[in-house]
Amino acid sequence: MTNAKNSNKSKRSKESKQSKQSKQSKQSKQSKQSKQLKQSKQSKQSKQPKQSKRSGKQQTVLLIVIGTVVTTAMLVILYFVIFYDNKNISQITDSSGLNNEAIQAGALEETMDNNMICFKDTYIQLATGEKATPEVLNGSIDNIKNWQSTDNSVAIVSENGEITGINAGICGITAEVEGTDKLLNLRVDVSAESESNIDETEPDTLESGDHETIIEDGVTYIDGIMMASKTFSLPADFDPGVNEEALNAFYEMQDAAAEEGLDIYISSSYRSYADQERIYNRYVEKDGKEAADTYSARPGHSDHQTGLTFDLNSIDDSFGLTPESDWVKVNAHKYGFIIRYPEGKQDITGYQYEPWHIRFIGVEKATEVYESGLCLEEFLGVDSVYKD
Ligand code: DAL
Ligand code: ZN
Repeated sequence: MTNAKNSNKSKRSKESKQSKQSKQSKQSKQSKQSKQLKQSKQSKQSKQPKQSKRSGKQQTVLLIVIGTVVTTAMLVILYFVIFYDNKNISQITDSSGLNNEAIQAGALEETMDNNMICFKDTYIQLATGEKATPEVLNGSIDNIKNWQSTDNSVAIVSENGEITGINAGICGITAEVEGTDKLLNLRVDVSAESESNIDETEPDTLESGDHETIIEDGVTYIDGIMMASKTFSLPADFDPGVNEEALNAFYEMQDAAAEEGLDIYISSSYRSYADQERIYNRYVEKDGKEAADTYSARPGHSDHQTGLTFDLNSIDDSFGLTPESDWVKVNAHKYGFIIRYPEGKQDITGYQYEPWHIRFIGVEKATEVYESGLCLEEFLGVDSVYKD
């Protein structure tokens, strides 16, 4: 019995165990399923925010792209607005129809910054052949460099700001304020002589003592002699090249010297304004302006720009010690030449003695000058002095 009881007990216990196990297994299965379900839900849930993060990034990129496009568009619009305004300024023309871009821009610049160096007037009026130097406010004219004319056929300007009216018309004069980016502009109105009831084709004629001065297209002639000195300048665009009559006269003189066993030859002849500018600037760099001014002409002031001048043989003092130099001194006038810067006349000509530098003025005049013992300035009653 006991055994049977025990066996029943053990059966029940087994059943109970089995039932427990099956329950557990069921539970475990359910738990697994529920876990899987949960995981799957979680996984679904966790996937959803990822997608929304990605679309957030896309939105940011989109916003940046839109922002960039809008900013660029605004900048382009702004650029056109400014450009349009400037165009309005630059396209202003005067009554003569000439474009005054530089002039208007300069006027604007000056009114924007009154404390800085500027021209007193925004424009000046000149007659042809007349000279003027603009007045400067808040500084010295010495601080103004790199003078340029927008039209050399209307007015030219020297490196010191002296403006000369050449032909009737309107042009701009520009210059830089040293040590700054500031560009100054000045309008120049050059009136024709006809406006003052003088025939436009007639050059300026002045009688001074026994001498007749004519200014034609910015070139001064005294008693018919073209002038180039510290006092008399030539327009920057005066570009005649070597004068043929002067060159033929030189060949005649060369042949005559050769007959006496002497060798004279041309070392330097015509020099343009730009050539002289380079030469003069090189000497200024080497020896300083004061020294350079005693032996080299500033651009627009060189006798060489006339096309009527030759430097002979070696261009230095040693030429003065040669028989060629002695011969030229006493014979050159017979061929129309003078020694342009004679010995002992430095204070009058403005330049040291240059035995090699001869100038063609024609046989008649050259002979008169030679026989007078005067230099050209004394002979014509003029000086040779820069205005600054
Ligand atoms: N040597 C002379 C003065 C000239 O430069 O023209
Ligand atoms: Zn010379």
